[in-house]
Amino acid sequence: MSARLIDGKALAQQLRQDLRNRVTSLAARGTRAGLAVVLVGDDPASRVYVANKIRACDECGVQSRRHELPASTSEAEVLALVARLNADPQVHGILVQLPLPRHIDVRRVVESIDVAKDVDGFHLYNVGALVVGQAILPPCTPHGVRRLLESTGVALAGRNAVVVGASNIVGKPMAMMLLQQEATVSICHARTRDLAQYTILADVLVVAAGCPGLITGPMVKQGAIVVDVGINRLPDGRLVGDVDFDSVSRRAAWITPVPGGVGPMTVTMLIENTLHAAERCAESVAAV
Ligand code: GUN
Repeated sequence: MSARLIDGKALAQQLRQDLRNRVTSLAARGTRAGLAVVLVGDDPASRVYVANKIRACDECGVQSRRHELPASTSEAEVLALVARLNADPQVHGILVQLPLPRHIDVRRVVESIDVAKDVDGFHLYNVGALVVGQAILPPCTPHGVRRLLESTGVALAGRNAVVVGASNIVGKPMAMMLLQQEATVSICHARTRDLAQYTILADVLVVAAGCPGLITGPMVKQGAIVVDVGINRLPDGRLVGDVDFDSVSRRAAWITPVPGGVGPMTVTMLIENTLHAAERCAESVAAV
């Protein structure tokens, strides 16, 4: 079998067209959607991610502001900036790029973001809302993966779903979303013994481990849907995922490429969340 490609780039482009129309229609009603991105320090990967996010804003007509702070910035200064952005009516979404320098308490910063502007969906209230199936601002990467899975047209109810990676950003919320779609969900992580005994049972396999080539063909069920969230830069400069594309695509029915799979969808979901936050803000102002 040779897997069909789940083309994240094409789907993202299609969704961005709809988002552009929504941005225009909101602007006609007097609200220009706005996102503030906070970058502390000079992590090279974070710089690239932030540049992609700003570019996507431009492409969709969302106003963006980039706040770049040196790595020596104190936690109090970051909290003060977030407080200003919380109070700014032109800012509908706030994203603090992670990781933060070690001297800054990530949870304290994330919890300081206004829940209604938390377009990453990382605030504890938004995490809780996701757990009970009431997410308003779902975390962008798993939300993008959900859309990619929907695009295959395969119903997930009753299927075995395995998530490899248990991070707060991807693995855990991904598992919650798959559970809401009535899949039977297992979460594997760095301490899982004999990973292959889980992955081989997966009808849907989502891999977010940050480990190049972790999943190989023999670990994958024939006909599975495989989504690769990994983005790893090899010493020779190549960008690869956590899934060995060549061997796995011979067994899977569907597979995402890297690059061009999950990445463009993550950024698109950020724009969708920002627009959603702006629309909700405009509605609440209109209702007063
Ligand atoms: N760092 C890696 N992924 C993300 C993300 O989705 N949001 C933020 N804020 N930081 C990240």
